[in-house]
Amino acid sequence: MSTILSVENLNVAYGSIHAVKGVSFDVNEGEIVTLIGANGAGKSTTLNTIAGLLRGKSGSVTFMGEDLGKIPPHKIVSRGMALVPEGRRVFLQMSVQENLEMGAYTKGGAGVPADLEMVYDLFPRLKERRRQVAGTLSGGEQQMLAMGRALMSHPKLLMLDEPSMGLAPILVEQIFEIIQNLHKAGSTILLVEQNAQAALSIADRGYVLETGKIVTTGPSGELLASAAIKKAYLGG
Ligand SMILES: Nc1ncnc2c1ncn2[C@@H]1O[C@H](COP(=O)(O)OP(=O)(O)O)[C@@H](O)[C@H]1O
Ligand SMILES: [Mg+2]
Repeated sequence: MSTILSVENLNVAYGSIHAVKGVSFDVNEGEIVTLIGANGAGKSTTLNTIAGLLRGKSGSVTFMGEDLGKIPPHKIVSRGMALVPEGRRVFLQMSVQENLEMGAYTKGGAGVPADLEMVYDLFPRLKERRRQVAGTLSGGEQQMLAMGRALMSHPKLLMLDEPSMGLAPILVEQIFEIIQNLHKAGSTILLVEQNAQAALSIADRGYVLETGKIVTTGPSGELLASAAIKKAYLGG
């Protein structure tokens, strides 16, 4: 199995706040790896640094064999990484289809109709609403749109920052089913979640982040069964 992403001894700070402290983990091709942790643990900071939105103080991020520290941030997406940020952030004034087309933008436009069909097959609700302005979609539909937009670039690595946030349980289930389908279709996914139960139930492996440090790692089944994890994250 080849390693797609490798994070080594990453440190990230906001001024005097040391948010990510020596974090190391990797993601192999075809895996879903989840990074779980409570609010403020450093999950988003880690993802945003991988995506080049923040600069680490030290450590390295290697993506597809390339040291991302040597690449200007605006070029990182073209290397095949897509981030669905926390809170989705779709273009509220634009239609569903226009939002999706924005996702294809970096690729130059060829093949856009086929990619739209691919996304609409995955999210039939978006197809029904393709002319609707994104601001009028429900939270779950906006999450689907943000994911669909990311998929338009055929990423080698899809990074999802708390896709379940603010969604009703039934929608969380739907979103996670879609993530599972993407996995079955061969996508490689880094899933950041506070909802440890949902994330571990679909991931291959997990890492637990506590106040900026990875404290536990293992196959998802082991983490789900661990008494300490149950106590801290699974309400038991
Ligand atoms: N822009 C910022 N400026 C200062 N501190 C921040 C900023 N963003 C996050 N932090 C702090 O960094 C830590 C990690 O935050 P974050 O990565 O957002 O955690 P998570 O995504 O796990 O909830 C927290 O203590 C948070 O308050
Ligand atoms: Mg976050």
